[in-house]
Amino acid sequence: MTTLLPNGRVDHWIDGRRVAPRAGQYLASIDPSLGTPWIEVPAGDAEDVAAAVAAAKKAFAGPWRALPAMGRAGLLRAVARKIAEHAEELATIESRDNGKPIAEARAGDLPSVSEMMNYWAGAADKIHGETIEVSKTSFNFTLHEPLGVVGLIVPWNSPLAILAAKVGAALAAGNTVVLKPAEQASASILAIAPLFDAAGFPPGVVNVVAGLGEVAGDAVVRHPDVRKISFTGSTATARKITERSAPGLKPLAFELGGKSPNIVFADADLDKATIGASTAAVFTGGAGQTCVAGSRLLVQDTIYDAFLERIEKHVKQAVRLGSALDASTTMGPIAFAEQFEKVKHYIELGRKEGAEIAFGGRFGPENFAADSPLAKGYFVAPTLFRGARNDMRVSQEEIFGPVTCAIPFHDDDEALAIANDTTYGLASGVWTQNLGRAHRFVRDLQAGAVWINSYRRIHWAVPFGGYKDSGYGRDSGLESLRGYQQTKSAWLELG
Ligand code: NAI
Ligand code: MG
Repeated sequence: MTTLLPNGRVDHWIDGRRVAPRAGQYLASIDPSLGTPWIEVPAGDAEDVAAAVAAAKKAFAGPWRALPAMGRAGLLRAVARKIAEHAEELATIESRDNGKPIAEARAGDLPSVSEMMNYWAGAADKIHGETIEVSKTSFNFTLHEPLGVVGLIVPWNSPLAILAAKVGAALAAGNTVVLKPAEQASASILAIAPLFDAAGFPPGVVNVVAGLGEVAGDAVVRHPDVRKISFTGSTATARKITERSAPGLKPLAFELGGKSPNIVFADADLDKATIGASTAAVFTGGAGQTCVAGSRLLVQDTIYDAFLERIEKHVKQAVRLGSALDASTTMGPIAFAEQFEKVKHYIELGRKEGAEIAFGGRFGPENFAADSPLAKGYFVAPTLFRGARNDMRVSQEEIFGPVTCAIPFHDDDEALAIANDTTYGLASGVWTQNLGRAHRFVRDLQAGAVWINSYRRIHWAVPFGGYKDSGYGRDSGLESLRGYQQTKSAWLELG
């Protein structure tokens, strides 16, 4: 079926080859469009992690360290080409494994993964220190050195794209890596790993150990030779990682969840805002399973009812719920059964809290004909809560599904107060024609990203990350490179 994955079962990627989990345990990975297992992935443990860390440590001290910066740049460009050559295969694996519509994987994720390698190739040979005059007879120069072995732990919603931002920066800086994909969607990362070696990276520079978070992930976090953890996932897991990495004093970078406000003023271009609000809510694409989802839709009271009607009309015409592998699908399933149950639970909770379902609230088979093969898939119809209040749990807690709370506001001050009244601070959107208002919101919104008259734009050259409980440290952009380096200052005494 594919040249990157063997049929039926795939192993870890350690030291340039496939390695079976030492304990012989595997997990079934589910195709969420059908609700059926399609491949087995390793349930790795601390021993497997130790083998990967040892390989990464050896590679770091060996040929990789000897390679000049331009050599790293060349290898990153070579892997960008390999990924582009295998883009269709990788997109198919990603879609089958986590339910991302293939159209989105083809047009968005895969091109960006290979472009990110090119971007980081461009950065690898432009790492410069400073020369600092201390006195006329002594001076200092600085070196930005890699940390060593870094652990990259990624989630299931966009495994390849999230991984690429981290791995590109880590390799450009000269580190070696141990990657831990999510147990619910490991296949695409296990599939892409050999492309690094095929592009010429020395064995052990890129390693993948799959397995459960509390087992394999925890072992990466605790391993004394792992010098940094970059993690994307939930705030709760980030807190555990913080505690458990403390004895090793490891630098951490966290890109966590959000409950991002998308604010629509009456003076906005409402046609664009309608599409934007639907994009923000991720009624298309990832079915709301994205950290930047504009899951709180703040609408000015004078247009509240009319605007919600517009969204309903747009969603009816634009959203085509279906198999992730069908090119005409615009919204796929929830990635796995437990997350499907979580989304269901929150929709029920919103009802109990007194919000009204404006549209949606249909699950699984309710979305398809009785004999459809998709009836066992984890589908949730796009769902909008009318009359939500910001203090409801559905407005405060991350749902990670196609569920948006529409909250009315009266004026700018109230919009800002509601927008910032959240423990999170990842992203935000503002729809207005008023330039002064736009600038004020850019300044006063407590979030790592503010989109004015757009939403969910992400680019590898732009730093990405959160405020407050949405984390710290940045992925993407040159700024993120520093997170994978340590500065050495060298003193020269000339007097
Ligand atoms: P999670 O944060 O537990 O999992 C993310 C990654 O961390 C996975 O690779 C997992 O195996 C690993 N992990 C889990 N426990 C670990 C531990 N103790 N040590 C090291 N690694 C560990 O998130 P989960 O359970 O998959 O999803 C729960 C909720 O988290 C979602 O419903 C959503 O609200 C949020 N989330 C946010 C994401 C984002 O993009 N910021 C991505 C995925 C989930
Ligand atoms: Mg799966």
